[in-house]
Amino acid sequence: MSSLNGKDIVIFGGSSGIGLRVAQGAAREGANLILIGRDATRLAAARDDVAAFGTLVETRQVDAHDHAALEAAFAALPEFDHLVSMVGDVMGGGFVNAEMSVIRHVMESKFFTNVRIGQLAAAKLREHGSLVFTSGTGGRAQNACASYVGNLGINALVEGLAAELAPRARVNAVSPTWTLTPFWRNTPKEQVASIQQHFEETIPLRRLASIEELANAYLFLMHNDFITGQHIAVDGGIMLG
Ligand SMILES: NC(=O)c1ccc[n+]([C@@H]2O[C@H](COP(=O)([O-])OP(=O)(O)OC[C@H]3O[C@@H](n4cnc5c(N)ncnc54)[C@H](OP(=O)(O)O)[C@@H]3O)[C@@H](O)[C@H]2O)c1
Repeated sequence: MSSLNGKDIVIFGGSSGIGLRVAQGAAREGANLILIGRDATRLAAARDDVAAFGTLVETRQVDAHDHAALEAAFAALPEFDHLVSMVGDVMGGGFVNAEMSVIRHVMESKFFTNVRIGQLAAAKLREHGSLVFTSGTGGRAQNACASYVGNLGINALVEGLAAELAPRARVNAVSPTWTLTPFWRNTPKEQVASIQQHFEETIPLRRLASIEELANAYLFLMHNDFITGQHIAVDGGIMLG
């Protein structure tokens, strides 16, 4: 297992939720971080939080959905050892009644933006480094249509990039299922409570993941030098039922 001490790590989505917890864990191990997000207030709070571990922390305000801005951001990035991407909007519901614009947005956000991140990251990734993307699990094609396709797309992206970048670097993904994070900040509280109850009853382990459990999977994939092309579900076994 390689150490993260002194490594340079870029986290798209390091200002909140799972990505912020990955940043805290990596900084605790001595890694230097570049945290990327859209919201300046969240970025500043995350920088102060992660800087408390005593390593170097920078922030970049970028909307990854804007591919021109994404390219400019990568052009300005130094080389790095690991990159984590938390980018990916989601949707619920089946195909029949879904708005095409929403399906397109989710595919653009979850799949095409991460393809572009992978392409641009490949040029800046140091030898023995890794990329860790975010897939997802728990939804089905009939109740999470474009999210389901987007997750399959991430799993394929990881396989392709892993083969293309080997032996120089590794590429993997973590697949969370529904988790109580700030991701749901704009969803009404009663709706969040009802979804939470549904997942607690459906997940075979009868509870939600903690943000810590998810973040640990990203850290594990950065540490373990012999895992590539994999998507690891941290989902309490939700797809077993
Ligand atoms: N929580 C769940 O139930 C769940 C389940 C399955 C999969 N996931 C996936 O896990 C990932 C992270 O979720 P989370 O729960 O940690 O959510 P979160 O707390 O909202 O964190 C998301 C992070 O990504 C950043 N981000 C999102 N879109 C971006 C963009 N276009 N450009 C730059 N930064 C962007 C956010 O920054 P800003 O706030 O500044 O935009 C924030 O730092 C998402 O891809 C989500 O689809 C979550």
